[in-house]
Amino acid sequence: MAITTDFLVIGSGVAGLTFALEAAEHGEVIIITKRSRDESNTKYAQGGIAAVFAPDDSPEAHIADTLEAGAGLCHDVVVEICAREGPERVRELIARGAQFDHENGQVRLGREGGHSARRIVHAADATGLEIERALLEQARQNPNIRFAEHHTAIDLILLSRFGGPDICAGAYVLDETDAALNPVPPRPRDSDRPAPRHRPASKPHVVETYLARATVLATGGAGKVYLYTTNPDVATGDGVAMAYRAGAEIANMEFYQFHPTCLFHPEAKSFLVSEALRGEGAILRLPDGTAFMASHDPRKDLAPRDIVARAIDFEMKRTGSDYVLLDITHRPASFVREHFPTIHAQCLRYGIDITAQPIPVVPAAHYMCGGVTTDLYGRTTIPGLWAIGECTCTGLHGANRLASNSLLEGLVFGHRAAARLSTQIDELRQSPFPEVPEWQAGNAVASDEEVVVAHNWDEMRRTMWNYVGIVRSDARLRRAARRISLLQEEIREYYWKHLVTRDLLELRNIATVAELIVGCAAARHESRGLHTTIDYPEPDARLGTDTVVKRGVLPHLRGR
Ligand code: FAD
Ligand code: SIN
Repeated sequence: MAITTDFLVIGSGVAGLTFALEAAEHGEVIIITKRSRDESNTKYAQGGIAAVFAPDDSPEAHIADTLEAGAGLCHDVVVEICAREGPERVRELIARGAQFDHENGQVRLGREGGHSARRIVHAADATGLEIERALLEQARQNPNIRFAEHHTAIDLILLSRFGGPDICAGAYVLDETDAALNPVPPRPRDSDRPAPRHRPASKPHVVETYLARATVLATGGAGKVYLYTTNPDVATGDGVAMAYRAGAEIANMEFYQFHPTCLFHPEAKSFLVSEALRGEGAILRLPDGTAFMASHDPRKDLAPRDIVARAIDFEMKRTGSDYVLLDITHRPASFVREHFPTIHAQCLRYGIDITAQPIPVVPAAHYMCGGVTTDLYGRTTIPGLWAIGECTCTGLHGANRLASNSLLEGLVFGHRAAARLSTQIDELRQSPFPEVPEWQAGNAVASDEEVVVAHNWDEMRRTMWNYVGIVRSDARLRRAARRISLLQEEIREYYWKHLVTRDLLELRNIATVAELIVGCAAARHESRGLHTTIDYPEPDARLGTDTVVKRGVLPHLRGR
């Protein structure tokens, strides 16, 4: 029996929750989420939300900074919408109970790289945690919102329409909640933690059919496609992969953002050291203490993120060092402790007192600027399928996201999609839910060789890190493409023979995302924003357009 609802939201980060709270005013919402409801990239966001509040700031300045960071690929209209609507969305978030730092009755604004003014609304250095807390609390109290935790969307359900395009009617979803079926704890998958040699095979679970008037992808990013990332384990690009398989248009996947400063410590798991530290004066230094950003950009440590990450990569390669240092020891210890309590406490756990010692840092994969293309309301190219947040390519970020513009985008597009759908829901309810076939497992059997999945995960992430990282070349991309294609062949074979598990689904999805990143990167014969290649080291003014790809259509620059 299918489970039906008005709005099926896949993902419970800032975008999904913002959408759900507003859509719930107009109908029933089910939120499917892979693990516990708070687990998301949103939860780990540190710096904050970019929005114009300061009297000496303006939407025009925010627009200009976003366009400058985006290196000629931002869509002007989207940038304008986000800069102008952002403050109102932040006020709504505050009205929903989010507690951001204030001083003298005004929000206290932080500063980050690429911003010409103080405009980062934050809750110390744990902004995302506060946003999730506030939104989840509201959702908990809303009778129109139901959560399906530990549920993983597998694939979108498409209906063929005579004479028209396929329409999305919902999703097939893996339900992992039955403890009897799921005795195996999720396996560690971090590169810095060795996978156990003999793991019991994870058990397959029940696959359910969800039908909805509108299906909304809010599945976040795909940091796990790279070996080192700031992202949690849920970030496996499922939304992009599902949309691609369904035939939706995807764009700009070559622009994967590497955050310049991830803590470098053998025991630390992908811990971000916020750009807000540099906003408050922290300086990047070589291990011998030399400050180096001045020789890379006049904005020094507050240059946009792509420039800082490339500079660090360059210096690490030049000096043979495994890391660089981020130094905030010149600020008073009380200031550092008050502004950065999470980072201070976390570094102390690894024996680093950031008030007295510089922090060893390295770049790590952080943010997916590309994704499922949408219009100004979150509509994808497939009728019935909407997408919001990091899984999308709305045009806001162009070739490089400006710091703290992502939470902003989730809020703005979560709101816009809900507002638009609320005007259509009565009409959508006129049609009955369609009859669709249940999930067919065919002759698939439970896996007895999960080592294949673990091995392919590892190889995929290493390949992406080594060949498709901060600096690329045609030869490296070709090598990556060959390996990914081989791995995909194996994964496909494995997928059709075995009952699905979350591990297997995520592996299949990161393989698709890897293929899309490599394909888009190979199609762009220039260096622009986050895509740097030694074979085409300069930007080419003729190539200032999005890279688009669709199932059956190779990645190409739009209009070419
Ligand atoms: P997410 O918050 O990632 O939520 C995605 C949700 O989808 C999760 O609940 C996940 O479990 C679920 N999901 C995924 N696949 C499936 C599936 N198949 N089935 C069911 N559920 C699924 N941005 C800023 O603007 N400011 C910052 O200060 C900032 N700091 C950051 C710090 C860190 C460490 C990280 C990792 C990111 C940071 N970012 C920041 C980026 C920002 O946090 C994210 O881009 C943003 O939160 C994404 O929100 P989202 O709602 O699109 O996705
Ligand atoms: C950070 O706090 O440095 C992350 C900000 C962002 O990703 O926008």
